[in-house]
Amino acid sequence: MATSMSETLSAAEPVDLLAKFDPIIQTREALLAAGVEDPFNLVMEQVLSPTRAICNGRDTILLGTYNYMGMTFDDDVIAAGKAAMEDFGAGTTGSRVLNGTFRDHRDVEAALREFYAMDHAMVFSTGYQANLGIISTLAGKGDYIILDIDSHASIYDGCAMGKAEVVPFKHNDVEALEKRLKRIPEGAGKLVVLEGVYSMMGDVAPLKEMVRIAKENGAMVLVDEAHSMGFIGEHGRGVAEDQGVIDDVDFIIGTFSKSVGTVGGFCVSNHPKFEVLRLVCRPYVFTAALPPSVMASSATSIRKLMHNGNKRAHLWENSRTLHAGLRALGFQLGTETPQSAIIAVIMPDLEKGAMMWEALLKEGLYVNLARPPATPAGMTLLRCSLCAEHSSEQVQTILGMFERAGKAIGII
Ligand SMILES: Cc1ncc(COP(=O)(O)O)c(C=O)c1O
Repeated sequence: MATSMSETLSAAEPVDLLAKFDPIIQTREALLAAGVEDPFNLVMEQVLSPTRAICNGRDTILLGTYNYMGMTFDDDVIAAGKAAMEDFGAGTTGSRVLNGTFRDHRDVEAALREFYAMDHAMVFSTGYQANLGIISTLAGKGDYIILDIDSHASIYDGCAMGKAEVVPFKHNDVEALEKRLKRIPEGAGKLVVLEGVYSMMGDVAPLKEMVRIAKENGAMVLVDEAHSMGFIGEHGRGVAEDQGVIDDVDFIIGTFSKSVGTVGGFCVSNHPKFEVLRLVCRPYVFTAALPPSVMASSATSIRKLMHNGNKRAHLWENSRTLHAGLRALGFQLGTETPQSAIIAVIMPDLEKGAMMWEALLKEGLYVNLARPPATPAGMTLLRCSLCAEHSSEQVQTILGMFERAGKAIGII
């Protein structure tokens, strides 16, 4: 008798490739069963400004969007995007190396060269792709990447894609970096990868010492300044500028999805051979270029960020006020002093963290809930990112919300 199709299929039951995620499914189900609103399924029904939105039906202050300079609603940024969409259409439908380089892709790269005072700039579709592409293209099989253990996922993925030897060192530990560098075989290609601001705890890297040590040991240096652009350093070029070592950094990686307020990623450099990367970097070549509207908005935003001293000063004031206020309330914070626009509030565990996140949302405050494996040392964090557009009154309102929620949950 002929075997039916369904019998054939059931005979060859596949191994469920999603079974490995069962523990995550169970943890999530347990959390939701406790009646908590899903922290990873928030909907912004309406965005009212860089600091306010209607989230899950409530008027909410945004304190977890990385919109540091509040450029998302800047009139000039929006106007530039609208004009480019009218003139060039909605999308590029092509790679940068084929039909996807429009006037505004060139212009945003010019804006980045002006902003960083560097010779070369290359724009990617996201910051994730910038790290993936640049790191994997620079360091291949037989080369060594020495990186801070708390590096962003896009950095680790870039390392994996390039197949270089990965040598992690303890977070922000200058001696550990030096020890690792000294153990690498002489003559090998070496890339030290650092971040200016580490986004989980909001702490700054000791780039001054680290860049010096990297150079003394014959390594090239890449610094991801995703969380410092537009805010830290005299010209907003980041921590490397602030600590006086930007001229010794070979490659700076950044993103448009934070201070710039749009989407996209980039690498800037003074390396004389930099332009060859456009031909060999797969996450640049084999993907569609960003829409012209995004490029025009980004170029306008970057140029405005060059003249934003007052906003930067206000953002620092907000960061200092929130840090001091949360400490005074008795919360445990990721840094002793405010080092950036990120303030991490350490939660006792995931359950309490999720309860606190929800209590804040009900108060009308959105923060990021971060949990392992994204966080260092298995911590659950409520990550707050301030915006230059938060008013001083909003910061006081936020402190009141933290106080009420913290007491209700029993954290303070
Ligand atoms: C340090 C760091 N690098 C890169 C990225 C990726 O940026 P994008 O959002 O543009 O992909 C992020 C984003 O969270 C980041 O924190």
